[in-house]
Amino acid sequence: MPHISLRNLTITYGDLEVLKGVTADIPDRQVTTIIGPSGCGKTTLLKSLNRLLDLNEDARLYGEILMDGINTYGQNTDILALRKTVGFLSQRPYPLPMSIYDNVAFGPRIHKLSRYEILNQIASVEKHGLLAQCSVENLFQMDMKKKNVEMDILVECYLRLSGLWDEVKDRLHGSAAQLSVGQQQRLALARTLAVGPEVILADEPTSALDPLSSQLIERQIKILKNLYTIVVVTHILRQARRIADHVIFLYMGELVEDGPADQFFDSPKDDRTRAYIKGTIS
Ligand SMILES: Nc1ncnc2c1ncn2[C@@H]1O[C@H](COP(=O)(O)OP(=O)(O)O)[C@@H](O)[C@H]1O
Ligand SMILES: [Mg+2]
Repeated sequence: MPHISLRNLTITYGDLEVLKGVTADIPDRQVTTIIGPSGCGKTTLLKSLNRLLDLNEDARLYGEILMDGINTYGQNTDILALRKTVGFLSQRPYPLPMSIYDNVAFGPRIHKLSRYEILNQIASVEKHGLLAQCSVENLFQMDMKKKNVEMDILVECYLRLSGLWDEVKDRLHGSAAQLSVGQQQRLALARTLAVGPEVILADEPTSALDPLSSQLIERQIKILKNLYTIVVVTHILRQARRIADHVIFLYMGELVEDGPADQFFDSPKDDRTRAYIKGTIS
């Protein structure tokens, strides 16, 4: 599980300085929320964590992002491996034009995971006890001569971890496009998890969803922190209160305050944090 540290992180788009010398730690296996008003640099910060920011040609980054003490912007970084370790869930779901099953299997297939690697990946999830009802219990009694049996188990595991299994188990080979947006977002979560990340980044993951679907995503996030380090960008303060263990508050590109959620919300240190929580600035 990588420990993430931002050290004096500055990011610019041309002349615009979007993040200004941000230094912060992101604790392992907790939910960190990045909060702040629109335009303060939340998405930019999130995308720098798995180098999705590289896709943006005019973005420049100064300072360091350390994972397990190693600078991810150093010369020897394997960017594809980094993006596998640090998964990304976007604001809106974009299901691939294929079945529910194939959406989840897509990542493991393109990464050409062997049967052994798939079983290993499932076992590493299973040991945290999050798959109590999954057929993974029967893993070692499964008929391994049956074609793709390990992929069937993997798909079930990740659909259970994303809280979607019960709703789709009878139509796994139906089109993902037929799911509701709320279900598609949980499918997107399953797809992100299926690649085997250790860190999950989510950019306003409920902003396109109705309240009930949002609640389902929040519930999965709280379950999944037993297994993953999770960073959620949100501009909804109440959501941050509900899910955060740790908070990073950005205001106009500056880190104003960060710390454990209880302390952040109950006894903020900075006047701007107090004003933001009270709603006098936004
Ligand atoms: N590709 C880009 N090129 C130039 N400016 C950008 C780009 N992306 C974002 N910005 C600007 O950077 C600032 C921060 O954006 P962003 O990180 O998306 O903020 P947030 O997610 O908090 O709303 C905004 O002023 C935005 O207009
Ligand atoms: Mg944003």
